[in-house]
Amino acid sequence: MNILLLGNGGRENALGWKIAQSKSVKKLYIAPGNAGTDLIGENVNISAVDFIAIKEFVLKNDVDMVVVGPEEPLVRGIYDFFRDDEKLKSIPVIGPSKEGARLEGSKDFAKRFMQRHNIPTARYQSFTLDELNDAYKFLEQLNAPYVLKADGLAAGKGVLIIHDIEEAKKELKGMLDGMFGEASRTVVIEEFLSGIECSVFVLTDGNSYKILPVAKDYKRIGEGDTGLNTGGMGAVSPVSFADGVFMDKVEKRIVIPTVEGLKKDNIDYKGFIFLGLINVGGEPMVIEYNVRMGDPETEVVIPRIKSDLVDLLNGVAKGTLATINLEIDSRYCTTVMLVSGGYPGNYQKGKTITGLDNVNGSLLFHAGTKTDGNSVTTNGGRVIAVSSYGETKSEALHLSYKNASVIEFDGKYYRKDIGFDLN
Ligand code: AMP
Ligand code: GLY
Repeated sequence: MNILLLGNGGRENALGWKIAQSKSVKKLYIAPGNAGTDLIGENVNISAVDFIAIKEFVLKNDVDMVVVGPEEPLVRGIYDFFRDDEKLKSIPVIGPSKEGARLEGSKDFAKRFMQRHNIPTARYQSFTLDELNDAYKFLEQLNAPYVLKADGLAAGKGVLIIHDIEEAKKELKGMLDGMFGEASRTVVIEEFLSGIECSVFVLTDGNSYKILPVAKDYKRIGEGDTGLNTGGMGAVSPVSFADGVFMDKVEKRIVIPTVEGLKKDNIDYKGFIFLGLINVGGEPMVIEYNVRMGDPETEVVIPRIKSDLVDLLNGVAKGTLATINLEIDSRYCTTVMLVSGGYPGNYQKGKTITGLDNVNGSLLFHAGTKTDGNSVTTNGGRVIAVSSYGETKSEALHLSYKNASVIEFDGKYYRKDIGFDLN
């Protein structure tokens, strides 16, 4: 098979690394890819949202399957674009339909879906600017802190958690006035949940499902989970508190009702579901849905899958996922993200990366990198994820840190405390 993978981050490098190992893959293309994906397949200089260019490429190069890494092409309807095109409709796209992608593209849609299907989540109400007074009244009914969420995609910045009610009212009005553009013309206000978070990934063909290894990511730039939010500074899998009892609740109360709910609502969904969960006193609740794999969670989840990923993806495409075995590596996997100095604020690109050949015993998944003649240079805030296996969490982390220290580029920064809050 020839596979086209869309995206250019660490997630896509990890997915591509696994796809390239499949016995059924002849050719792997990555659009647009990075310096890491260039080593495992062929990078194609096409944007992941340029559907017309993707169509042309797929037809010209006999692509048999398209795997979508990021949410944007899904939210813009790449699945429907293929399904509704005479020439493309026989080529499966791994990812939900445009309607299914609203689980990530609209927080209000996701909350209604959960309410309709009795899936545990924080109490909420949604408001637009002409309902401002009702919104203030709802805020007054809640206890601090107040959680305000832009309904639409806001590049990961659309959630505000505010302690003071007057401040919350001010920010709410700002959001409804367009602080995040169209994305915040509707705002979801919800009850604050207190607990520790984890990410659960589900692969579904629309009928059956497989639960992939659970992971925890570290979003803040600073140690001890302080400072600004980032795309993710590291991850660990498995997660100590997500034990058998907890995961059983996740499956019964969240995974099954989600897959059944999509079916009942007639939503075409063949792809990954990312459940952002919070453990509230032992009870799992949904903080958010995403319609793709997480980054950097993918860099620890995918290495723990022993089965052929393309067999699983074919099962998704054909609706035979239930017949395919999912085998998981019992070892830990950890990843530490090396980032550019200044990230998530302003940072420079184009710094030469050295020491990659001195890495021993870890997997390198490139995020913001670029091939530049014979060298590899930085091309983003998050640069490289250093993933390692271990019999214990600390053994895996030790290896990730050892190898993180041999890679050099001007301004390199990484958190030294990934996994600090887990047993
Ligand atoms: P989201 O984009 O919905 O994942 O929200 C971003 C982050 O805000 C989450 O990862 C949580 O850490 C936090 N968050 C969102 N909703 C809540 C909530 N209801 N209670 C507590 N924290 C929340
Ligand atoms: N690691 C969180 C995300 O991918 O959204």
